[in-house]
Amino acid sequence: MDFQLKTLTTHEAASTEADALILLWPDARDGEDVAQADPLTLWARQALADGDWKAEAGQWLAAHRLPGVQPRRAVLVRCGDGSARRVRQAVEAAFGALKGGAPVRRLVLQLGALSPLAVRAAVLAVADASYRYTATLSQPQPRALATVIVGVADREGVQSTFGEAVATVRGQELAKEWANRPANHATPSDLAQAAQALQGRDIAVEVLGPKEVAKLGMGAFLAVAQGSEQPLRFIVLHYRGAAKSVAPVVLVGKGITFDTGGISLKPAADMDEMKFDMGGAASVLGTFQALAQLRPSLNVVGLIPACENMPSGRATKPGDVVRSLSGQTIEILNTDAEGRLILCDALTYAQRFQPRAVIDIATLTGACVIALGQVRSGLFANDDDLACALLEAGEAAADPCWRMPLDEEYGEALKSTFADVANVGGRAAGSVTAAKFLQRFVKDVPWAHLDIAGTAWKSGKDKGATGRPVPLLVRYLLDEAARLEVRPARPSKRGRRAAH
Ligand code: BES
Ligand code: MN
Ligand code: ZN
Repeated sequence: MDFQLKTLTTHEAASTEADALILLWPDARDGEDVAQADPLTLWARQALADGDWKAEAGQWLAAHRLPGVQPRRAVLVRCGDGSARRVRQAVEAAFGALKGGAPVRRLVLQLGALSPLAVRAAVLAVADASYRYTATLSQPQPRALATVIVGVADREGVQSTFGEAVATVRGQELAKEWANRPANHATPSDLAQAAQALQGRDIAVEVLGPKEVAKLGMGAFLAVAQGSEQPLRFIVLHYRGAAKSVAPVVLVGKGITFDTGGISLKPAADMDEMKFDMGGAASVLGTFQALAQLRPSLNVVGLIPACENMPSGRATKPGDVVRSLSGQTIEILNTDAEGRLILCDALTYAQRFQPRAVIDIATLTGACVIALGQVRSGLFANDDDLACALLEAGEAAADPCWRMPLDEEYGEALKSTFADVANVGGRAAGSVTAAKFLQRFVKDVPWAHLDIAGTAWKSGKDKGATGRPVPLLVRYLLDEAARLEVRPARPSKRGRRAAH
């Protein structure tokens, strides 16, 4: 799908060649004084004067072959105060209004003088509303929409936000695509290939297999993978946008391509949804895709431990004790708490890059879904600056998270008689004890953990991946690049100066 940004008056939008036009109408325009109105504005004014257009975001009016309007179908839709949230509602409603008609290949989306954040929200909402999953359908109905002309009052003023939005869409769609694929079409090796496909000018990818991972000593990761016929993959991505001496941000994504629970087998109902258990990994791939397009000046490392969690004669048994890469021994009381086992070894590995920050992203706990539902991701952090940066990025990207606690006392639930730590606590504060487990593997580095169990996918009728938190991560990394620009990184341990 091609997005084009153009400076367009409402009049020019109406004379642009397209199958359909959507005009977003903020409340602020209600009282506007227009001497010579174009046909669309006239239509809106009349509907308002007649009291036929309720002041509520998402309220729409549709017309067919309106005189003076080139696109065959036109939709006026209210977008309230013009905030990102209302704009998203407006675009979703307008797509609902267009549904059922002939496929729209070329669309004019007239946004007028809406803010850059609104433009961003509109682009993301169009992508979301028109996304189609096709990978495993024998008669796919691919997305018809090929071109979206985004009309704004001042192209210059919104250009950089628009570029960010388009790159975010690409990344988010890659994340959705991989998370949606069934586990037999998205094995650890398939994920590794998807990563390798991102290789290019600024991105390098390394893939380690079972032998290398065993040699490194990642006993916790191996313990999860050993029940499966599918060989594990440890995927390492490097985005190099700054000098070598600039410490990278490391993103770690949980890549369980299917989570049966292992010997602590999950119930059958809805188990299919555990194909989304690599949503963290998918968001790392999507973020790298966006980085390749935006090319910000910073360094980013992506780490994806990928494997299946299966029961078998070779599978890890409850009570087994394994030795992690950090040297700590772990008593695996519940084989369904596998995400933290693959992540802990990846977190230890992350520290070899002397990172400026480490962020792991994981569909880690059902408890987080209970705590925060599908609206906000759970955020845990050992560093207030990093927490603030992620919270802000989430708000700005309309991909919000909420900070959760890490008090020392929560860690007591993980005490074990037979190892240094157990992999589960009790039922209480399940998402916090999971985060406390991970925290043990992070030493002296700003670290954050995003529990996306509730936000990475939707259940029910519209079942599918959301591509979250790609928007949050992309925003955070761009902010981080801007911060580096202002306040270059401290010289590294080797005493070299950061060059820009
Ligand atoms: N992948 C699941 C977490 C999950 C559950 C994500 C439901 C989305 C929806 C994770 O591996 C898991 O099974 N966690 C257990 C942990 C428990 C055994 C301590 C859980 O949340 O029940
Ligand atoms: Mn599990
Ligand atoms: Zn899992």
